[in-house]
Amino acid sequence: MSFVIWRVKQELWRNMLVTGQSRQDNIITIRSTIVLKKEKCIMDMGLKYKTALVTGSTKGIGKAIAIELAKEGVNVLINGRNYEEVERTVNEIKSDFPATSPQNATADIVDIGQREALFEKCPEIDILVNNMGIYEIMQYVDVDDEVWEKYFRTNVLAANGLSKFYLPKMLKNDYGRLIFIASEEAIMPSGQMPQYGMTKSMLLSLSKSLSKLTIGTEVTVNTIMPGPTLSENVHQIIESMYPHEDMTFSEKEKDFMVTNLPQSEIQRFIKPIEIGRLATFVCSPYASAFKGSPIRMDGGMVPTIF
Ligand SMILES: NC(=O)c1ccc[n+]([C@@H]2O[C@H](COP(=O)([O-])OP(=O)(O)OC[C@H]3O[C@@H](n4cnc5c(N)ncnc54)[C@H](OP(=O)(O)O)[C@@H]3O)[C@@H](O)[C@H]2O)c1
Repeated sequence: MSFVIWRVKQELWRNMLVTGQSRQDNIITIRSTIVLKKEKCIMDMGLKYKTALVTGSTKGIGKAIAIELAKEGVNVLINGRNYEEVERTVNEIKSDFPATSPQNATADIVDIGQREALFEKCPEIDILVNNMGIYEIMQYVDVDDEVWEKYFRTNVLAANGLSKFYLPKMLKNDYGRLIFIASEEAIMPSGQMPQYGMTKSMLLSLSKSLSKLTIGTEVTVNTIMPGPTLSENVHQIIESMYPHEDMTFSEKEKDFMVTNLPQSEIQRFIKPIEIGRLATFVCSPYASAFKGSPIRMDGGMVPTIF
């Protein structure tokens, strides 16, 4: 029995009991719902043929955002510092979404020269997702001026440099989406990474300032604040915390959440795809009323209402 037929039969009995509809009506409704879901025709976000640059998109949250955008027919510019790694991601997306034209946008975006070369190669985009950012647990006393500057240059100035180049073009076209990826640390510093939290708070302020420039236009500037998310990097950190235990990853994750993040209401890491889908929605025309908004997807980590 195929998956669709099995699911139709299962849903049929349940729905007939709940809705009181005839067997035939129920078959039609359920079959079309399941077929639509199976074919991934979930919702057309109105993003086909747009072009998006997602910084730091060979891994983790950035890659998930790029994939979700490509799923909607967006031509994504994949960025990272390693040409081969970027090329691998471009080929993967091209093979999964052949109707789109992903491109290699290799550049160390912290380096002004490489950023300018990127502008020359990709002068026009509709969507900029400033995702790339570095993070590391550090004691406040160990954060010297060099570290503060490195975090400021990497997590703030790189994103600002890209925004300064692309935002005026978006304003001229009267269409564009600019998203900063911050963190729950922006509004709820844990104290475990002061050098990081500071940069993420700065992004919220920068995002609001830039949003003020978009008044009366179809350009939006917003910030997404993910909570702890299971990127490859975070996966490795968790594995390294349980080097000897005979536990599945899911058991390690549960233990980690209970011990270290008891305030999380989902008691699991957020999946990169969840952030990817949210970012795709924020990029869509349906989200044009989000202006200068800090948008939380933190699994309930932040305990306050706002
Ligand atoms: N993971 C979390 O729990 C979490 C939670 C809240 C917020 N965030 C934020 O979400 C964003 C992504 O986090 P993630 O965990 O997905 O990161 P990640 O797994 O460490 O991925 C980083 C990506 O950025 C690229 N990259 C690093 N430095 C770069 C540079 N100078 N120029 C261009 N590309 C560079 C990396 O490729 P190369 O190394 O090959 O260059 C890679 O593609 C960050 O801003 C982070 O602060 C993450």
